[in-house]
Amino acid sequence: MKRIVSGIKPTGTLTIGNYIGAIKQFVALQKAMPEDEFFLFIADLHALTTPQEPAELRQRIKEIAGMYLACGLDPERTVLYIQSEIKEHAELGYLLQCFTYMGELERMTQFKDKSKKQDVLLTSSLFTYPALMAADIILYDADYVPVGEDQKQHLELTRDIASRFNNRYGDFFTVPEPIIPKVGARIMDLQDPSKKMSKSDETDKGYISLFDEPSVAAKKIKSAVTDSIGIIQFDPQNQPGIANLLTIYSSLENESIDSIVSKYSNLGYQEFKSDLSIIVSNTIQSIQEKYQSIVNSNQLDEILDKGRDQAQIIAYKKLEKCKRKIGLGRKRK
Ligand code: TYM
Repeated sequence: MKRIVSGIKPTGTLTIGNYIGAIKQFVALQKAMPEDEFFLFIADLHALTTPQEPAELRQRIKEIAGMYLACGLDPERTVLYIQSEIKEHAELGYLLQCFTYMGELERMTQFKDKSKKQDVLLTSSLFTYPALMAADIILYDADYVPVGEDQKQHLELTRDIASRFNNRYGDFFTVPEPIIPKVGARIMDLQDPSKKMSKSDETDKGYISLFDEPSVAAKKIKSAVTDSIGIIQFDPQNQPGIANLLTIYSSLENESIDSIVSKYSNLGYQEFKSDLSIIVSNTIQSIQEKYQSIVNSNQLDEILDKGRDQAQIIAYKKLEKCKRKIGLGRKRK
């Protein structure tokens, strides 16, 4: 039996980038792997790497949990939990910092990008974040970690840290493999397709939130930046806007990009965008309907309690063994 683990940070809103790159993939894997175990958590400790307003953070944690389920996760087959409710994440995160080099953290492109953008003082947790992320994964001996492209480097570092530990103390942690979707691993900003669609963005025209009014989402697709070439083809270099829209279409409809291109090859951008805007707004609408029924029931807290209890048992045992391996504490009689 394999174990699949992934998480989302509750900062900003959830976008269709998160949906396509991570959540939809997770749901598809769950269907394709009926014998395997799925662990999914809300990475609230990671959110604290940048300043958060307490009431908003608490609200978002619940929203993400509800959205995971609304997007089609099977609650019976998912251990769904909140990272900060399992203390072992933070403790193993610290231990793994002791096995992570400054140079490795300095090379993380996400840290470099964020530190350039940040107008407030940088926290040290933003820098050490990848060690906590490694802990989130190897604490559960994850075999696979479904994520979008932007997390690939963090996964490579996780593998290095796990292997380094194993080389020193003997085989102990499972070295995880990332699963990155072939289509949709990096959904781009609708207004500036040279940058990744991000939920933490200041302006809201470049991203579609899973909480957007469906008609607003449709408008955002219609006003997405394209180009003056005027031909529908998949050319991310010269037509990044159209390539991004084709990717969104392909992922939401489970249709190959080639087939979409041939369907629209004789039509204009307007027609293509209009069809895609309907696909996007319908997708969002159906997710929102499920979301409403979930948040209006007690189901969510029950699922989160159950998830916490299940994850806790595994996390506790693994961390205790890890501390013994390293030589911490007293020898048991
Ligand atoms: P986060 O919260 O930034 O993103 C959550 C997931 O969504 C994917 N994603 C995207 N995929 C495609 N296109 C986009 N524009 C896009 N934006 C985001 C991300 O790749 C990710 O899979 N550090 C992680 C959270 C985390 C985690 C973990 C993930 C903490 N611990 C352990 C996996 C395993 C993060 O900030 O993701």
